[in-house]
Amino acid sequence: MSYLFPNYARDTIDLIDGAGSYVYDQNQTRYLDFTSGIGVSNLGHKNPKVLQALAEQTNKIWHSSNLYANKLQEQVAQKLTMGKDYATFFCNSGTEANEAAIKLARKATGRQKILTFKQSFHGRTYGALSATGQPALQAGFYPIVAGFDYLPYNQLVPLKEKLTDDVAAVMLEVIQGEGGIIPAEKKWLQAVEKLCKENNSLLIIDEIQTGVGRTGTFFAFEAYQVEPDIITTAKALANGIPVGAMLGKVELAKAFGPGSHGTTFGGNNLAMRVAETVITEINQPTFLSAVVAKGNFLKQELSQLIDQSDKVCAVRGAGLMIGVELDSPETLYTVIQGLKNQQLLALKAGKKVLRLLPPLTISQQELEQGLKIIRQVIQ
Ligand SMILES: Cc1ncc(COP(=O)(O)O)c(C=O)c1O
Repeated sequence: MSYLFPNYARDTIDLIDGAGSYVYDQNQTRYLDFTSGIGVSNLGHKNPKVLQALAEQTNKIWHSSNLYANKLQEQVAQKLTMGKDYATFFCNSGTEANEAAIKLARKATGRQKILTFKQSFHGRTYGALSATGQPALQAGFYPIVAGFDYLPYNQLVPLKEKLTDDVAAVMLEVIQGEGGIIPAEKKWLQAVEKLCKENNSLLIIDEIQTGVGRTGTFFAFEAYQVEPDIITTAKALANGIPVGAMLGKVELAKAFGPGSHGTTFGGNNLAMRVAETVITEINQPTFLSAVVAKGNFLKQELSQLIDQSDKVCAVRGAGLMIGVELDSPETLYTVIQGLKNQQLLALKAGKKVLRLLPPLTISQQELEQGLKIIRQVIQ
């Protein structure tokens, strides 16, 4: 028997080690990692710079509580805001970052309604779950938090109809990750930003999966020339050390005064020291342009499968966040198992999308090796 809740459909392999783009299971079988732990290990496993940062901080203070000044938090926040006027709140996960965003949006605007999108995913705590546009994930947990409405993604008319003067915020992913790797259309996202401004509603962009270089820009929204009022990020921010962050325009900061919101572990020194290294490594033009080049290569090569295999319907995504839509959930299951048998780990998204999230540091040779396996298994 297992001593764990059965809330995850776990595979039997137990990943006990990793190096670069590879992970090793309990039998020392080596797998090419096209998951990065669901978009977390963006700098690969046992990255030397990350290891060094962690080791240095391990020998200093790990945790000092948020009762005291924290220079490391200030440094990470400054790097995250990239010269723009945002204030940052640190927490420990994506769902917590979204909780903070929802609370800030309501308090700062004095409005209650939040509009989100169908097949979105924002997390599992009550606020974030209520924002998630997937009834299946909410089933059994009612009553959820009131005030959320779910609109069709990439459509403007339903949004215009619902964007009334009691809407605090519109919340969205630039590429819906769990929902099936569905990118926002540029014109749509720019129109959403404009409509929000006209209505004095805040635009919250959830960059928890798309952020930290995953799509080829540090935040995915940068490729859309929009400027969100609130940004949430987590997952890859400390390459596996738990951390999350919520950035809000400075004019919103007064709504989060002393006592308004908080967390014990959020922004602890270990996570901050690693996050500082991760941002420094990833937020460089050469690093990000390499992600774009690798992503374009992978996407172009995979797109050929649309003509070559009747199982492949579409290839979508940006940078190294790529979805291969297959013809059925059964094909997806068979493909993921087939890849595992060929020692490549990959993910699912939505009902029938093969989701590929390799470490951003993956080499061209590893990428080609992965492609070869994917081609073989799908064909
Ligand atoms: C877009 C998005 N938002 C929020 C979350 C929740 O993050 P966490 O699992 O760290 O709570 C996820 C996790 O997959 C996500 O992909």
